[in-house]
Amino acid sequence: MEGMPVLGLAWVLCMITAQAYAQYYSQSVPYESLPEKTTNLHFFFHDTLGGKNPSAVLVARPNVTEGPSVAPFGSIFALDDPLTAGPELTSGVIGNAQGLYVSSSQDIPSLVAYFDFGFTTGEFNGSSICVFSRNPITNTERELAVVGGRGKFRLARGFAQLKTYFLNASNGDAIVEYNVTVIHY
Ligand SMILES: *[C@@H]1O[C@H](CO)[C@@H](O)[C@H](O)[C@H]1NC(C)=O
Ligand SMILES: *[C@@H]1O[C@H](CO)[C@@H](O)[C@H](O)[C@H]1NC(C)=O
Ligand SMILES: *[C@@H]1O[C@H](CO)[C@@H](O)[C@H](O)[C@H]1NC(C)=O
Ligand SMILES: *[C@@H]1O[C@H](CO)[C@@H](O)[C@H](O)[C@H]1NC(C)=O
Repeated sequence: MEGMPVLGLAWVLCMITAQAYAQYYSQSVPYESLPEKTTNLHFFFHDTLGGKNPSAVLVARPNVTEGPSVAPFGSIFALDDPLTAGPELTSGVIGNAQGLYVSSSQDIPSLVAYFDFGFTTGEFNGSSICVFSRNPITNTERELAVVGGRGKFRLARGFAQLKTYFLNASNGDAIVEYNVTVIHY
């Protein structure tokens, strides 16, 4: 009988816990209405496939596509590319792009990009924007969708306008100018 109060207490604690976890969702309420801001980002993306220290590497490719292309249909690359303020690598690294691109077109050279652009300097140090889009790389000017972000870019959306600044068609090395319009809180 001496054990009973202890058992009773355990039962009460158990009910409290059960109540706290009874539901996996909250009541829906309007999102806090903070004013939205627009920030423009301008930088250069250095994608290096050739040489001894590539920043983008081939992860896999199907055994059915052949040809001289650096990235035949179905190839998947992982990248950790430096971002700089100016077109030269010596102009100062401001962040890096990490992610994947997949050669995803059967006709024109086009990659689908899954990138997280993380910034390591200035106001947006520690924040990142997330991009997910097709990227028809032979068009001089093209656009990628910004679908989200982290840190100061939490809940971001926007678009990135791209221009190829340099391309080595024989090994795929490229420097791309990014002009990004980000809408965030
Ligand atoms: C591709 O791989 C599959 C599965 O291993 C094999 O059956 C096929 O013969 C390969 N094709 C070529 C062109 O190597
Ligand atoms: C960026 O943030 C990291 C982590 O807070 C810090 O260690 C680093 O010094 C910062 N870099 C610059 C250039 O502000
Ligand atoms: C382009 O790539 C080829 C093959 O790797 C290399 O020999 C050549 O020097 C590169 N050209 C430039 C301008 O970087
Ligand atoms: C970047 O894009 C914005 C908005 O589209 C435009 O006003 C600005 O001139 C562009 N900057 C560069 C360097 O292309």
